[in-house]
Amino acid sequence: MSERSTAGFAGRRVLITGGLGFIGSSLAIELVRLGAHVTVLDSLLPEYGGNRFNVEPVRDRLDINICDMRDQHSLEILVQGQDLIFHLAGQVSHGDSMRDPQLDLAVNCVSSMNLVEACRRRNPGARLVYTSTRQVYGVPQKLPVTEDHPALPVDVNGINKLAAEYYHLLYDRTYDLKSVVLRLTNTYGPRQQIRNNRQGFIGIFLRQALKGEGIKIFGSGQQVRDFNYVDDVVQALLLAATTDACFGKVYNLGAPVYHPVLEMVQMLHELTGVPFETVPFPDDRKLIDIGDYYGDYSRFAAATQWQPTVGLREGLARSLDFFRTHSKEYWA
Ligand SMILES: NC(=O)c1ccc[n+]([C@@H]2O[C@H](COP(=O)([O-])OP(=O)(O)OC[C@H]3O[C@@H](n4cnc5c(N)ncnc54)[C@H](O)[C@@H]3O)[C@@H](O)[C@H]2O)c1
Repeated sequence: MSERSTAGFAGRRVLITGGLGFIGSSLAIELVRLGAHVTVLDSLLPEYGGNRFNVEPVRDRLDINICDMRDQHSLEILVQGQDLIFHLAGQVSHGDSMRDPQLDLAVNCVSSMNLVEACRRRNPGARLVYTSTRQVYGVPQKLPVTEDHPALPVDVNGINKLAAEYYHLLYDRTYDLKSVVLRLTNTYGPRQQIRNNRQGFIGIFLRQALKGEGIKIFGSGQQVRDFNYVDDVVQALLLAATTDACFGKVYNLGAPVYHPVLEMVQMLHELTGVPFETVPFPDDRKLIDIGDYYGDYSRFAAATQWQPTVGLREGLARSLDFFRTHSKEYWA
């Protein structure tokens, strides 16, 4: 962990939207450890990643506010007095964004608009970090994908996340509401939602590996991805929040090594013995598949010196350990 990413949080007031979710709770635990006064805001949207157990290690050392960001009034109160706001709340399922586009619009766009408006009115001095997604690029035209790649989302979620990025950047330019956008790639690790199939193939494969059910890989398995272990993403969020030069900008996260999906499954097989096979893509998944992806994160690395430190095999082993220890809360 870099010294810079841990500096400057003691005594700071921090609001984390989506703070009972996977990445938000991991960030909350780290910020409490660093001495920040943390409030997590979460609506516990049914079937997604919100889980009170996620903040169990720091339950008595942070404030939990169950509220929905679609409600502007609550936000206007909650943003007041916060030094830093990490905006992680969202509807994160690409498939669900096609089945229920209105929900995605409300959760990802309206909520984000409510947040920047609440800050403009009640706390214009706050600093915001928004977690967007590599899904805004759609099918890569060239690898690795840089921030200059055209944004041509293949699903409603990608469009709404892109709009939310623009709200943050517009308010940064127009009202000097300091905001930075990070485009996350496949993030995995302890506390992610693995109970159902809504939140990406890594969570599904982890559950299948834990249960010893056969893993079914859609397509040939040769499609490549970059993977970030959640602790590395937490460090990126902390660095983004404390690097002045980042505000007003958009950055990719990414990994120094990318892997075919089949290789990732082979690692799970070696770690658990789970059997696996490749099967044809179901039609609804094929529609929103982006083929190969890995991102160029050199701009963020240059701005902050961030580098992921946990390799895929190590990260999967740590994740399996966590989920075995806490089976009841996550998948059993
Ligand atoms: N996990 C990944 O691989 C990944 C990749 C790219 C981008 N991201 C982005 O990172 C952020 C966090 O993702 P995650 O994986 O932790 O997801 P998650 O589902 O675990 O967490 C999201 C949280 O937001 C909460 N939420 C949803 N709607 C809300 C609302 N209207 N008001 C208040 N809270 C609400 C949910 O209850 C949940 O706890 C999301 O914005 C997501 O788009 C994640």
